[in-house]
Parts: sequence; C-alpha cells; structure tokens
Amino acid sequence: MAKLVTGGTGFIGACLVDQLLERGDEVVVLDRAQTNHWDGASRKPKIVIGDITNWPEVMNVFHDNSIDCVYHLAAMLSLPSEANPWAAFQVNVVGTMNMLEAVRLFGPNKIIMASTTGTYGLDIDAPEITDTTLQRPTTMYGSTKVFAELQGRFYRKKFGTDFRSVRIPSLVGPGIKTRAIGQYNSWMIEAAALGRPYVCYGLPDRGLPLIYYKDTAAAFAALSDADMDRIKTINYNIAGVNVSATPRDIEAAVKRLIPDAVISYDPDPVVVQYFATLRFDALNDDPARAEWDWQPKFGTVDAIVEDFAKEVRAHPERYPL
Ligand SMILES: NC(=O)c1ccc[n+]([C@@H]2O[C@H](COP(=O)([O-])OP(=O)(O)OC[C@H]3O[C@@H](n4cnc5c(N)ncnc54)[C@H](O)[C@@H]3O)[C@@H](O)[C@H]2O)c1
Repeated sequence: MAKLVTGGTGFIGACLVDQLLERGDEVVVLDRAQTNHWDGASRKPKIVIGDITNWPEVMNVFHDNSIDCVYHLAAMLSLPSEANPWAAFQVNVVGTMNMLEAVRLFGPNKIIMASTTGTYGLDIDAPEITDTTLQRPTTMYGSTKVFAELQGRFYRKKFGTDFRSVRIPSLVGPGIKTRAIGQYNSWMIEAAALGRPYVCYGLPDRGLPLIYYKDTAAAFAALSDADMDRIKTINYNIAGVNVSATPRDIEAAVKRLIPDAVISYDPDPVVVQYFATLRFDALNDDPARAEWDWQPKFGTVDAIVEDFAKEVRAHPERYPL
C-alpha cells in the first residue's frame, strides 16, 4: 500500500515525501508540475503528472495504485489566488472536493489536508488565535481553505471519512519558489546566507507565527499516525514560533549569525492590505499537542535561522535565487 501526496513536487510536499520515504513508506505523488528533486536519489516516489481538478486523472491514480492514505497539499497559495480567484476556486475548492470523493469511492477514506492560518481574518476578538476562533477571511485563498476544512468535516460526519488537517502558519525554509504572504522571511535568510542583499516586501514590524518546513512536513505524518479516537478537533493549528515574529525579528536573528547581511524594506500593497485586516499576535496549538503529540523541533527564530543558513551554505547550488 502507498501514501498519495498531492502537491508532492511542491515545497512542503517534497519534504514530506522525503520523510515518508525515509521511514520506509511507498509514495505516489500527484502534481501538475515536474521536479528534479529526486534526480540521483536512491529512494524515489512514483510521480504521476496530473491535475486534481481533472476528475478522470484523479480516478486513474486510484485505479492504478493501492493507496492507504492521502496527504492533500496541492493548492494555489495566497498571492496567486488573489491574482486569479477563478483558478483558485477550481484548484482549492473543486480539487479538494475531487480528493474527498476519490478517497470515499476508491481509496482508504483517509485524507490529511494542508490548511492555513490564512483562514483567519475579520472579527478576531482576542490577540491569541485558537482552534475555535472565528474564521472570517477576506482573501480568496482563505475562503477556499475554510470551505475545504468544513467540507472535510462534513465528509467525516456523512461518510465516515477520516479527514484531518493542519493549519500551517507562515512557513520558513530554503528553496521556496511560490511568492505568498510571508515568503519574504525565507528569502531574507536565504539571501543573507548566500551573501546577497535583500529587499523585503513585508511590513518590517508586522509579523505572523512561524513554522520551519521540516517541522511542517513532520506534522503531517504525526497527525496521520494518531489513533482515530484521539482526533477530536479535526482541523488543528500548529506552530513552531507561536508568538508573531516580524521581519525585523528575523533580520535581528540573521544579523546575529551573519553580521554583514544587507536587508532593506519595500512593502507589497497586497501584504499591507492583508495586515490591515489581520489582528492576532499568537497562535495556540494546545489541541494538536494534546491529541496527537505535536511537538516542533525548531521552536525559536534563532533555531530556524541557524538550521536554514547551514542548509543553504552546505548546498548553495540548490538555491539559485
Ligand atoms: N507556503 C506556506 O506558507 C503555506 C502556509 C500555509 C499553508 N500552506 C499550504 O501547504 C500546501 C503546500 O504548500 P507549498 O508551500 O508546498 O506550496 P507549493 O506551491 O510549493 O506547492 C503546491 C504544489 O501543488 C501543485 N498544484 C497546484 N495546483 C495543482 C493542481 N491543480 N493539480 C495538481 N497539483 C497542483 C503545484 O504544482 C505545487 O507543486 C498548500 O496546500 C498550501 O495551501 C502553505
């Protein structure tokens, strides 16, 4: 039996696939984009190039492979979704519906999905977000992910589908290609580690809770492994650094490690608008810790920056900015 990872050639997906292969799982990837990530690797997934919005392509993946769990990560991220909301609807809403139907009809009826703290937005009445905070996003991306969370919950009730999800906060890691809100944190560290100046498109003093990519990938497998009867909350917040870290906080950590780093700011209007409606400073992930033993390995900005810079400096050829 194999694990199916949608979006498995993407940034988090490839790291998750590596971790699944590492623990001996057979892995099938469904993604519309190719990758050279496993060129020369001894352990590789089977890669199926296909689109989750194309129902026959999805059915064929289940017909051709024995799947016992789906990790559903394929999606359009925040800024691309704002630029093309019509495509975001197809991928994030219709594509997710296709995956829920596919696991119900052909598969193991088990699916772990990537959601986002971008599902929060207006009318937050406390500085700390919890799993029961009102989700009222103003973005296309956030709206599609709220739908996906609720649709998963519905499938669980109606069809007994073992649906679970993690809400990923601002992601940090080397080699991110897709521009989204918060990716400037990663590109700042990457540029500094490569000895290059960086102009940050974020607001210097507005931040988000963070998570390192290695922790994010590990969360999917940990959530999947937990016994069904422990899963009460279903859609879980997770974070590495639970209190918002601003670009200036990242800059300070970078400069502790790389004192001559050159960093300046030119905020993107979409980012400015996003923070104008966002009012939270911390993310509570207690239910994830209690129900499936969530525990990040990288829990401080300095720990993240240190591991990140080590990776970039060890393999600069992988990170041609
Ligand atoms: N990057 C972040 O900061 C962040 C934060 C919160 C949540 N997430 C979620 O995590 C997941 C993975 O994000 P990522 O950072 O790895 O992004 P990514 O853009 O690197 O990867 C997404 C992958 O999905 C694939 N994809 C997109 N549309 C597809 C389609 N129609 N059919 C098949 N494949 C398709 C892309 O080709 C890509 O490989 C997404 O669901 C995203 O919403 C990401």
